[in-house]
Amino acid sequence: MSQSLSIQENFNLAEYNTMGLTAKARYFISISSVQQLQTLLADSQFQSLSKFMLGGGSNILFIDDYDGLIIHMDIKGIEIEREYKDCVLLKIGAGENWHELVIYCIEKGWGGIENLSLIPGSVGAAPIQNIGAYGVELEEVFDSLEAVNIETGEIQSFNKEECKFGYRDSVFKNELKGAYVITSVKLRLHKNPKINTSYKALSDALERKGISDPTVKDVSDAVIEIRRSKLPDPAEIGNTGSFFKNPVISKKQFNQLKIEYPEIPHYPAGEKVKIPAAWLIDQCGWKGRRFGDAGVHKMQALVIVNYGKATGGEIWALAERIQHSVKEKFGVDLTPEVNIVT
Ligand code: EPU
Repeated sequence: MSQSLSIQENFNLAEYNTMGLTAKARYFISISSVQQLQTLLADSQFQSLSKFMLGGGSNILFIDDYDGLIIHMDIKGIEIEREYKDCVLLKIGAGENWHELVIYCIEKGWGGIENLSLIPGSVGAAPIQNIGAYGVELEEVFDSLEAVNIETGEIQSFNKEECKFGYRDSVFKNELKGAYVITSVKLRLHKNPKINTSYKALSDALERKGISDPTVKDVSDAVIEIRRSKLPDPAEIGNTGSFFKNPVISKKQFNQLKIEYPEIPHYPAGEKVKIPAAWLIDQCGWKGRRFGDAGVHKMQALVIVNYGKATGGEIWALAERIQHSVKEKFGVDLTPEVNIVT
């Protein structure tokens, strides 16, 4: 047994997933440097085991115990890689907390991620699903990232193009799923930020506060206020934010739905149309319903919550019932936004 790496056996993951599930990992290790990670990956004892990378645990559903090795990313550090006249290039360890990074940048007056305030999770997880909120997606400030190949232990750099970002999507959710461990992320932040208040809920909130020329701090404060009013705090009620992605459907299907539901909210998505999953779920009457300790949040129908002792299986069973009813009523497929671990 590699004592120097302090691997734990039969490890309870309750503190490591925001859904608050008491799943167990056969092996668990926290990694705080790239070297430590490479040592671990080269250790023959663990090569045959299935491995799963865990960041902040805020976008994960463990349906069962995990019969393999969970690698918890804990590489820290925020450094200025390069400073330009109007922007800074920051290199951030994958184990840094996302929201703490946002606050750090706001204190420095650097703009670009203020709309992404209060998103739970780690910096290393952010590019995997190209986190987005209130009109901004990570890819807008993304420069590149470094990742270690799980098979070879080699470090590789990925630029923006190579990450193949999409809506809540990247190459790391598709062809490179499970193949790399992201160890650091580089972001380009602006010293004279362009403020983005295109998202209606955000511009409304600023207007209510009488702010017409907002700073990055004003935007961040408004986003925090909106999120707190709608989304449950995982420290109080277990949840993983939006459980499903907002479905993107064809114009033809949308036009058909619009005949029956003229009020259906929608956003353009290239040649297609994006529909809020929350609205579809809400229309099916799920908001606020509870089955044992698994439920649908009473303020946001897109958020599935664990009121205490729900199991991953119970949460998933509820998610499947929601998928079936949305499919039956609207003919639309809902895809999970969270990572399902079996
Ligand atoms: N709506 C309902 N019922 C509800 C909630 C919302 O009908 O219970 C309808 C409303 O018409 C509303 C529309 O759905 O106008 C959209 O709702 P909202 O603006 O709250 O955003 P969302 O589409 O539900 C997305 C992201 C969130 C992000 C917000 C703000 C996804 C899957 N979710 O939610 O991301 O914070 O926009 O930008 O894209 C996350 O990824 O975990 C997350 C919380």
